[in-house]
Amino acid sequence: MGPSSKLLLVAFLVWVEGSSLHYSESRSSRLYPEKTFGRSIKDSQCQHMLKHLHNGARITVQMPPSVEGHWVSTSCEVRPGPEFLTRSYRFYPNNTFQAHQFYYEDNHCTKPIYTLVIRGRLRLRQASWIIRGGTEAEYQLHRVQMVYHTATVDKELSQRLNRSCRGAVKGAWEPNAMYELVSEEGDYDCTRDLNFAMHELQLLRVEKQYLHHNLDHLVEELFLGDIHTEPSQRLYYKPSSYQTALQNAKNHDHSCIACRIIYRSDEFHPPILPPRADLTVGLYGQWVSQRCEVRPEVLFLTRHFIFHDNNHTWEGHYYHYSDPICKHPTFTIYARGRYSRGLHSTRVMGGTDFVFKVNHMRVTPMDVATTSLLNVFSGNECGVQGSWQVGVEQDVTLTNGCVALGIRLPHTEYELFRMEQDAHGRYLLYNGQRPSDGSSPDRPEKRATSYQMPLVQCS
Ligand SMILES: *[C@@H]1O[C@H](CO)[C@@H](O)[C@H](O)[C@H]1NC(C)=O
Ligand SMILES: *[C@@H]1O[C@H](CO)[C@@H](O)[C@H](O)[C@H]1NC(C)=O
Ligand SMILES: *[C@@H]1O[C@H](CO)[C@@H](O)[C@H](O)[C@H]1NC(C)=O
Repeated sequence: MGPSSKLLLVAFLVWVEGSSLHYSESRSSRLYPEKTFGRSIKDSQCQHMLKHLHNGARITVQMPPSVEGHWVSTSCEVRPGPEFLTRSYRFYPNNTFQAHQFYYEDNHCTKPIYTLVIRGRLRLRQASWIIRGGTEAEYQLHRVQMVYHTATVDKELSQRLNRSCRGAVKGAWEPNAMYELVSEEGDYDCTRDLNFAMHELQLLRVEKQYLHHNLDHLVEELFLGDIHTEPSQRLYYKPSSYQTALQNAKNHDHSCIACRIIYRSDEFHPPILPPRADLTVGLYGQWVSQRCEVRPEVLFLTRHFIFHDNNHTWEGHYYHYSDPICKHPTFTIYARGRYSRGLHSTRVMGGTDFVFKVNHMRVTPMDVATTSLLNVFSGNECGVQGSWQVGVEQDVTLTNGCVALGIRLPHTEYELFRMEQDAHGRYLLYNGQRPSDGSSPDRPEKRATSYQMPLVQCS
């Protein structure tokens, strides 16, 4: 939902990144964010939570990352498609890995369909210059095996496998038998028709943090590359942001029940997560990011949303940064408009459709580089020409948005939402993953089939 970031914005940010090297000392983080909206901090638990993130103090990033160990999903994950899965990945000291991907019928991961066991070799390369804070890597597959868990093998899947695996499978597919999709000898590869790839291993990041300021409670997280939102593009896509993090089985959040269940599973005993009811999505109150988020193509940001369910209006604050711990602000966007609730999604189990409109927007450049860029744009395309100043907000509604930021108003987005409660009873709000090609979901058929990192309710 909210302002789209088209290619122009990407070009813009690359430029800003480059330029900010010269200007890095002149940013005015003093102004940020509490003065931006003329609201006092006192009345906002949400601002407080965001401010904590801005400091980034509690998280340390390992460069280069040490991935050795056993890493597991913390919940039932949703991939574009949708696909519902849990992951259990082991990385060994000899640079090989063994990855289990458990696939399910349902959005709570209670009904396993099949498991992929993927073995191969991983080689870390250099620090990524596209995604600051990430490390690039290369992988090689040695072997991919598949085990079915349902009594009747899904017809469509088995047809696809039959097509790409001619010769590899003799007789009917049977549950609990191991099938080789990529053989050790390299004489066949049945994964082509499955859009299967492990390109997520091409971008890695490891974060450590001590929970509740307790030195005994270390949590280690492994972020792997994102999956293209268009399944047919998966094979050709180089990750440019991250999926939900895996946690180190040795150092995980103790409240993570799924972690323990997944840790103990294997291809013959797939994890079955505790059944839960779908929560009705209630869009009211205020929600904030839980961490510094990464969008494909060099965008780091935090978000703060306010929903008024009495009149179906919403407000969103988007705080953009040039760095992966959200310390150096580049610009902020305030957007508002209306929303309407749709039906339960017919494509994504557990999701609810919404439509969002943006008809009002304000922009605040937060560093010298962004300010000069906005001032370069001529004509009535982004506020009053040549008038931008660091830390000073300007309304761009009258100029129909801001060309420099690739945002046109009014703007409509087709959204997907779901809600959950975390182990501490807090409500989490998930909204749709943005299309990996940088476009915006401005038509119903472009509606997401997976989600971004969740926001947490803050008031
Ligand atoms: C690497 O180590 C793992 C775990 O110890 C072992 O199972 C595997 O065979 C080793 N692979 C190679 C190529 O040495
Ligand atoms: C797949 O191939 C096997 C062996 O040739 C066959 O028994 C099975 O019926 C086929 N399944 C589908 C769905 O075509
Ligand atoms: C909608 O309601 C909220 C809170 O009740 C109010 O602050 C806001 O101004 C209203 N918006 C419109 C467009 O009426």
